[in-house]
Amino acid sequence: MKRHARPLPQLPAVGVGLGYRPALHREIVSHLREITCLEIIIDHFLDMTPEKEAQFHDLASNVCLLSHGIGMSLGTALPVESAYVNKVKRTLDIARSPWFSEHAAFTKVPGIDLGQLMPLPFTEEAVDAITQNIGKLKNKIKQPLLLENIAYYLAHPAGEMTEAEFLTRILHKANVYLLLDINNAYTNSVNHNYDPYEFILSLPLDRVVQIHLAGGEWKGQYLIDSHRRSISREVWRLFDFVVPRCAVKGVIVERDGHYPPFSELLEEVRTARSTLRKYGIFVRSLRRRVTSVPGRTTNAARPSSY
Ligand SMILES: [Fe+2]
Repeated sequence: MKRHARPLPQLPAVGVGLGYRPALHREIVSHLREITCLEIIIDHFLDMTPEKEAQFHDLASNVCLLSHGIGMSLGTALPVESAYVNKVKRTLDIARSPWFSEHAAFTKVPGIDLGQLMPLPFTEEAVDAITQNIGKLKNKIKQPLLLENIAYYLAHPAGEMTEAEFLTRILHKANVYLLLDINNAYTNSVNHNYDPYEFILSLPLDRVVQIHLAGGEWKGQYLIDSHRRSISREVWRLFDFVVPRCAVKGVIVERDGHYPPFSELLEEVRTARSTLRKYGIFVRSLRRRVTSVPGRTTNAARPSSY
């Protein structure tokens, strides 16, 4: 199969890991040999006490931290608050994240924090608004920016284009990369009755840098992207379809509650890793050396490509 050109060859391949959650902390630090990257919600690490910051430094020394934002509200037609961006920039530098990801969404309207990701109307006006905010953000943050496709439950009536066209317009116009959440794509395809494979093929897959995997659940007539269930067979099939069509650098398994035994999460990590290897990605053996766990002094090596 023809492999797409790598969009950012200088980015490290960071492998497969988990979304860091405090409830999983003990298990995660006990299994850092099996997890080559963790994704942190950067909003939870912006105002750290000195003690928490020291622990964060240690974590960053032991495992590659991918930083994921949820509060930037890039789609709001107002500039992103510079004080917030400065805090994000500082934490990104401590984390030494190879890239920074946010959502193609909005979470704020003037004066109100909505507290959840809201879909943008698929319009040229929204493309322009988010592109302007991204342009300003790129002036401040040096790490490459990835945008994630979100799950949405009601299609905006003012839409002028499809979701895939909308995402493609933003990625090209703002010159940013894609964090492809396969469960979000699958969830939307079920709720809005379209073919997820056609959706994925209509995205610029050469811009995929990272992938999210998760499991959802039914609530009434909607499939919800809850991250509270195991990854479904359909999402694994889509993952197997996507991997050989892009040059993915990192994969994160997201779980946000209804936690199973940790071994089940590790099994999902291993399954994702074996899919990458099946397609010749990350074939060299892991050379990362973990010498301690967060909370203790360490000079552990950073993860290398594998
Ligand atoms: Fe996600």
